[in-house]
Amino acid sequence: ASTLGAAAAEKGRYFGAAVAANHLGESQYATVLDREFNSVTPENEMKWDTIEASRGSFNFGPADQIVNHAQGRGMKIRGHTLVWHSQLPGWVSNLQTATDVRNAMNSHINGVMAHYRGKIHSWDVVNEAFQDGSSGARRSSVFQQRIGNSFIEEAFRTARAADPAAKLCYNDYNIDDANAAKTRAVYNMVQDFKSRGVPIDCVGLQSHFNSQSPVPGNYQQNIAQFAALGVDVQITELDIEGSGTAQANSYRSVVNACLAVSRCTGITVWGIPDHYSWRASGTPLLFDRNYNKKPAYDAVLAALGGS
Ligand code: G3I
Repeated sequence: ASTLGAAAAEKGRYFGAAVAANHLGESQYATVLDREFNSVTPENEMKWDTIEASRGSFNFGPADQIVNHAQGRGMKIRGHTLVWHSQLPGWVSNLQTATDVRNAMNSHINGVMAHYRGKIHSWDVVNEAFQDGSSGARRSSVFQQRIGNSFIEEAFRTARAADPAAKLCYNDYNIDDANAAKTRAVYNMVQDFKSRGVPIDCVGLQSHFNSQSPVPGNYQQNIAQFAALGVDVQITELDIEGSGTAQANSYRSVVNACLAVSRCTGITVWGIPDHYSWRASGTPLLFDRNYNKKPAYDAVLAALGGS
């Protein structure tokens, strides 16, 4: 196979990209997206502040653009994200009681998932609910402060009922190292959910890497330890700061780690050309600003068995 998506498919995986609706009209962008990728994740368009900026009033326009583009081309769609402390409209952050936050959270999940029912392969139901550092504690958020620890399982139960066919993922960054405190905390939560029958199907390893946080040596072991809990693992927001051979080697190691674990079902890179990356000044992606394939692209394609 000569493209990322086709090569991944031959390995039983998908290969996706984060997509921004406002770039879809750019012909080079759309050409590379349609040629190389068989899965998309809306980069911002499904976030709460876009979809439900005011209570009970849903704006699906920007996300629908991406969903329609992907559906028309047979691509999978990852939903990102239902419950997150960031990109949250003020009306949610200002809710005062547990009942109010619970009602808002469940209505949001129900409203969004009903609109996209049957179209979304996997949903990031809860995103980034744990703190960085050594505590393993939950991050402070209006959900955590008002509802407490149970907000996560409540979100997953609501999501399962709203679209029983979608895979339900917990998604986070800095959970790539098998032994990090944050990883252990998420691992323990998933283990607890599985033991109590809380509906969870997948863990998303965002995998934003740079020189301060390179691809861990135990990354494959980490994927395997989550998979052993009985969930799929998806690499959901991959980008690796750097260039040339070093960057290519890092990308290769990520792809090889995923391919080595049968329950690692797909990889999504967090953007297409470098200049649209959230890392404004960086070059963390597979295509340069002229949409040329970088050495990292060649390494990924080869690791997937393509050429
Ligand atoms: O759309 C507005 C535009 O109208 C306004 O003029 C402009 C001025 O600031 O802002 C635009 O919104 C920006 C939006 O991206 C769309 O470009 C926001 O300011 C900016 O904060 C937002 O950044 C996004 C970021 O999440 C927000 O936290 C990035 O694009 C997106 O790549 C990034 O993605 C996150 C994942 O969702 C979760 N994991 C980490 C990852 C990287 O930070």
